[in-house]
Amino acid sequence: MIKLLSHLSYVAITSPDVEASVKFYVEHVGLSVVDRIDGAVYLRCWGDYYAYSLVVVPGAEPALDTMAWRVSSSEALDEAANRVEAAGIRGEWLDDVPHIGRAYCFTGPWGHSMTLHWAVTRHAAADRVASIFPDRPEKRSTVAGAPRQLDHVTIATSDVDAFATWYNEVLGFRIMAKTILDEAPISVFSVLTTNEKSHDLGVVLDGSTRAGRINHYAFWVDTREELLIAADILLENDVPIEYGPSIHGIGEQNFLYYREPSSLRIELNTGGYRNYVPDWEPNTWRPSQGSNNFYRNGTMPISMTESFPAADGPSATEEGVPEEIKDALLNPYAKHGQG
Ligand SMILES: [Fe+2]
Repeated sequence: MIKLLSHLSYVAITSPDVEASVKFYVEHVGLSVVDRIDGAVYLRCWGDYYAYSLVVVPGAEPALDTMAWRVSSSEALDEAANRVEAAGIRGEWLDDVPHIGRAYCFTGPWGHSMTLHWAVTRHAAADRVASIFPDRPEKRSTVAGAPRQLDHVTIATSDVDAFATWYNEVLGFRIMAKTILDEAPISVFSVLTTNEKSHDLGVVLDGSTRAGRINHYAFWVDTREELLIAADILLENDVPIEYGPSIHGIGEQNFLYYREPSSLRIELNTGGYRNYVPDWEPNTWRPSQGSNNFYRNGTMPISMTESFPAADGPSATEEGVPEEIKDALLNPYAKHGQG
């Protein structure tokens, strides 16, 4: 297979209160508004190369509207679409995605909308934010801890392994690692990538029957110091931190999770390895090895199991996940004398 996809280009999410969400992204995350079209607001990080990386779309619930990848060539776009259709999915060609143009959009087997495109509009900075550095899309933000660019998206699905296999076989995502529970052979997490990063697509187990959910998406900051400053400033401004700062074992990235006004989860992310190995064999981690928390000394908050939109059955932490699995996820160290 030729290399089809290059990188995650934007994430579109729905919010029941678009203006509240946008205000939060501008004031607390440090993004800037690029455009407003039909009620949707287009935003960017200072270091994003294209016109935008986040779209906030009006919607009844916080949810994933679509996740978009730029392909590696115009030929790759046709090839990717052909491969999706050959896998039994009927997608749709769009000619007028704002600031992009032509794109192929489809809903994957587990209900997640994905948009693929080759066309882009490169960001042209206004004079007041034009950088003196030729390769920098615009000046570094004056908001402390503002992310440089979009990093990854993590979705929820009822079958982590089958999801990873489908996106690997159909679109060429490399599977980089997975987590199975210590207590039972159940896959609860996997990471996939289209480039040298540890992942630009994460996959968490979803015990609900609601398809197409998102767990979080992440922005990148250059340094751990910026991530810590962002945590400091969020707390100082009454924005609760859900989890972190800490380091994931898988990917070795520093992380910090918090919520935007719709309740959707955002991650700030930095560090981590680079992996260029084309035939990488993914390792299997156990939670007790620190797959989620590298330091193996902290318990993940139960709220982290919530994905979006809320499950249509019982509450998120009771979405059909057996008690012992829930316990193993939340406190994987207790049985190993580490907690
Ligand atoms: Fe993440």
